[in-house]
Amino acid sequence: MSKHFPNSKVCATDLDDAREICQMNIDLNGCDNCSFEELDWEVEEQNGVKWDVIIVTDCTYNPLYYDALLHVLQRESSSHTVVLIAHKFREPLSESEFFTKCMANFTLQRQRWYSDSSTLIHMGLYRCQK
Ligand SMILES: C[S@@+](CC[C@H](N)C(=O)[O-])C[C@H]1O[C@@H](n2cnc3c(N)ncnc32)[C@H](O)[C@@H]1O
Repeated sequence: MSKHFPNSKVCATDLDDAREICQMNIDLNGCDNCSFEELDWEVEEQNGVKWDVIIVTDCTYNPLYYDALLHVLQRESSSHTVVLIAHKFREPLSESEFFTKCMANFTLQRQRWYSDSSTLIHMGLYRCQK
């Protein structure tokens, strides 16, 4: 995304464990407008940041983190923020709980859906806005 929008400021986040591989990807792709910042969904921060776009990829697999992740999305978005959630279903029943919770604070639209019964891969892209 940072290559597609070279005039934007992109911040890639994950736990500190992922810093090295994330920074390597940033460097290998020559993403000069992208930096890595540690973000633990379970740690409360008061940075006052509101993003234009938040992209979440493959982070909805563990029900234990749903409330913390949704809290971060709520905290760092305004009514103008578009939240894109790219999602690979691993446990469809429990993971649909994430989207049910999400709908309490965001309007949710499914943009894309990919399903392959031979490989049992199911993926979706959702657009959320307050
Ligand atoms: C399945 S990986 C997806 C990684 C990456 N977003 C991608 O699409 O390749 C899930 C990621 O969630 C991160 N994660 C798990 N718990 C987290 C937490 N409490 N705060 C922030 N990130 C967390 C993990 O470190 C891991 O990188």
